[in-house]
Amino acid sequence: MGNTSGSSKVKYKPAEKRYQKMKYNRCGRSGLLLPAVSLGLWHNFGNVDDFKTGRAIVRRAFDLGITHFDLANNYGPPPGSAEKNFGKILKQDLKAYRDELIISTKAGYLMWPGPYGEWGTRKYLLASLDQSLKRLGLDYVDIFYSHRFDLKTPLDETMSALESAVKQGKAIYAGISNYKPEQTAEAAKILRQLGTPCLIHQPRYSMFDRWVEGGLLDVLEKEGIGCICFSPLAQGLLTDKYLKGIPKDSRAAKPTGFLKREQVTEAVRKKVAALNEIAKKRGQSLAQMALAWVLRDKRITTVLIGASKVKQLEQNVAALDNLSFADEELNRIETILKSS
Ligand SMILES: NC(=O)c1ccc[n+]([C@@H]2O[C@H](COP(=O)([O-])OP(=O)(O)OC[C@H]3O[C@@H](n4cnc5c(N)ncnc54)[C@H](OP(=O)(O)O)[C@@H]3O)[C@@H](O)[C@H]2O)c1
Repeated sequence: MGNTSGSSKVKYKPAEKRYQKMKYNRCGRSGLLLPAVSLGLWHNFGNVDDFKTGRAIVRRAFDLGITHFDLANNYGPPPGSAEKNFGKILKQDLKAYRDELIISTKAGYLMWPGPYGEWGTRKYLLASLDQSLKRLGLDYVDIFYSHRFDLKTPLDETMSALESAVKQGKAIYAGISNYKPEQTAEAAKILRQLGTPCLIHQPRYSMFDRWVEGGLLDVLEKEGIGCICFSPLAQGLLTDKYLKGIPKDSRAAKPTGFLKREQVTEAVRKKVAALNEIAKKRGQSLAQMALAWVLRDKRITTVLIGASKVKQLEQNVAALDNLSFADEELNRIETILKSS
């Protein structure tokens, strides 16, 4: 982020009516309410991005009632820079509102060299959490996740690290991400036995990636675990932005973006165009319909979106104005998604 001061001299005052419109859903069988739309900082908040824009997005999000901000140790690039930049925004703008925020971070992917810099050992998870807290400038995060299942570390060890984080007061809740249904059931059992129930699971879920429908959502419902779905817009594919090409400022065009040009295929475009027509008839943008579609299942607590512009964020939050679907609309969407 070039200009890291954000240089606005006027002190930020959050919108007084920020809690009036947002919908809050209970996270599984816990007491915690999360906003139906949460903001993730995977892209757009690294040192390669514009700090001012990131800061404006976070402030606008809070004004719109978004209380949940999701991070991970490796978000950037470079890894760690999204936490650092979010720490600056917290310090500059949101310090007085810490108790109104749910801030999460994760450890699981590569962060430092040697045998202790990734996966699921106690050594790695607890060291990484300490590093994250330093970068964020916080004493604790609200949710600490195991970012991915580790086949080589006993699950008891990984879960005991989450429990230790909570017992040490460095996290309030424990979560898991990208765990398969059977791994999730086992993790939930271990965490329950340890006295730190699993609050939340963070899987990928969108119209274009429906793996959670094959058992995970059933496990989450049975165990009383909430579900926060990442990349609900398939990184931007489920919007109208790629219909006529690849815009210069889009994720698919950026060298640091995880969405690759090759993923914007003709077959994808054809489906997106057909979905876009249904969205138009509903009086919504495709992005809004894609978010409403994920939220149609009551087991979903919140959609975890990304945004590179304030306008996108505003448009996405407005998805909450129309969350209901007629059976006929759902059937038409189903037909499009199943077409080749
Ligand atoms: N647990 C995990 O393993 C994992 C993995 C991935 C992500 N996540 C979490 O999920 C969060 C969201 O992931 P994501 O960023 O892939 O989510 P996404 O909501 O599917 O994609 C966000 C991107 O779509 C574009 N976009 C958003 N709203 C738009 C709109 N209204 N119109 C046009 N384009 C729009 C923007 O990209 P442009 O740059 O093209 O404008 C934006 O950055 C991450 O920040 C992270 O917190 C977790």
